[in-house]
Amino acid sequence: MSSLPELSTDDCGDIASYEVRVAGTDLSFRVSSGERILAAARRAGVWLPFECGWGSCSTCKATLVEGQVELLYPDAPALDPRDERRRRFLACQSTACSDLTIKVPRTGPTEERPTRDYRAELLNAEDLGPDIRRFRFRLDAASQYRPGQHGIFGLGPGLRRCYSMAGLPGTDCVEFIAKCYPGRPGSTALFGLSAGDRVPIELPYGDMWLRANHRDAVLTAGGTGISAIIALLRQLADTNTTRRVHVFYGANTEAELVCWDELQTLVAQLPSARLYGAVARPASGWSGITGFVTDALGPQLATLTDVDHYLAGPPVMVDAVLALLRERGTPLDRIHFDRFG
Ligand SMILES: Cc1cc2nc3c(=O)[nH]c(=O)nc-3n(C[C@H](O)[C@H](O)[C@H](O)COP(=O)(O)OP(=O)(O)OC[C@H]3O[C@@H](n4cnc5c(N)ncnc54)[C@H](O)[C@@H]3O)c2cc1C
Ligand code: FES
Repeated sequence: MSSLPELSTDDCGDIASYEVRVAGTDLSFRVSSGERILAAARRAGVWLPFECGWGSCSTCKATLVEGQVELLYPDAPALDPRDERRRRFLACQSTACSDLTIKVPRTGPTEERPTRDYRAELLNAEDLGPDIRRFRFRLDAASQYRPGQHGIFGLGPGLRRCYSMAGLPGTDCVEFIAKCYPGRPGSTALFGLSAGDRVPIELPYGDMWLRANHRDAVLTAGGTGISAIIALLRQLADTNTTRRVHVFYGANTEAELVCWDELQTLVAQLPSARLYGAVARPASGWSGITGFVTDALGPQLATLTDVDHYLAGPPVMVDAVLALLRERGTPLDRIHFDRFG
């Protein structure tokens, strides 16, 4: 007997694990009871589309062909009232209640690094700028990720937020640069942690990592997007790359242009690298570019041909850079980005 596909907000019990098949492919993976479908896919090394990882962007929206899922966050901003009729659900915030067949818009790189769960103990938090801190955590095992990727912290019941690793992988110490938005749940919870506090984190997530080729690299960060971009720069410095590297970094004020000295040191280690800073509201005495990061990047684009672009930062900044790159005819497969929304 075949059952009709069903979306449910009821707890579907603590029964077993289920098999999820991805329609039109030979991909399948198992989901444990209560486990998020996206997380289960990544633990199995299966790439499904996603972006924010918690329910705001809709990139992970999948169609239920067969079986039953439970929505773990029915009020997620990315869910639309029409989704139920169309049997669409968010893979990042749903679990399986039976074996499933799902349809996704695309599948991706097969060499995905399996995501795993860690416990992270806060070692220290250092003030870098107004409401901006560097957090160092010790994990219960050595981290495995590509520089540029992020982890998803569990910061409270149902409260999942992404933060990009700022350091290099391979040790049990991970580092993040984060901003607090007063009164907002995720960043307030992160900034409320004290040394010794432990929180769960899943990693790695994200597709904004350095592609293995010899093309020059253009790294563009807005605000705390510098967390992901500094990780890429550290990787390039660590491998003594001979690629030309251009780093564009924008913030509202000079005080928010955090890690500037560190960036200058990393850039100086590379044989052919340049750093450009743009500040939207500078104090007198600022000798860099006044304006947005696009004002720094735009004039250089004519000379930056045959390059790969890596971008990270707030959605409005990433969208502005994407619009600029499209306008200049940059091929889409040369742009890798993370929107921090
Ligand atoms: C792939 C990815 C990587 C990320 N990496 C980082 C990182 O390395 N560092 C980092 O700090 N964040 C990062 N973020 C953003 C982070 O996950 C949270 O979205 C952020 O901390 C805000 O969460 P919140 O619950 O405090 O705010 P929410 O309630 O979720 O607010 C939603 C968004 O509204 C905006 N917002 C909220 N309040 C204000 C305000 N007062 N002023 C201006 N804008 C506001 C912010 O852009 C915020 O992201 C990343 C996000 C993604 C998707
Ligand atoms: S809504 Fe699921 S990844 Fe953004």
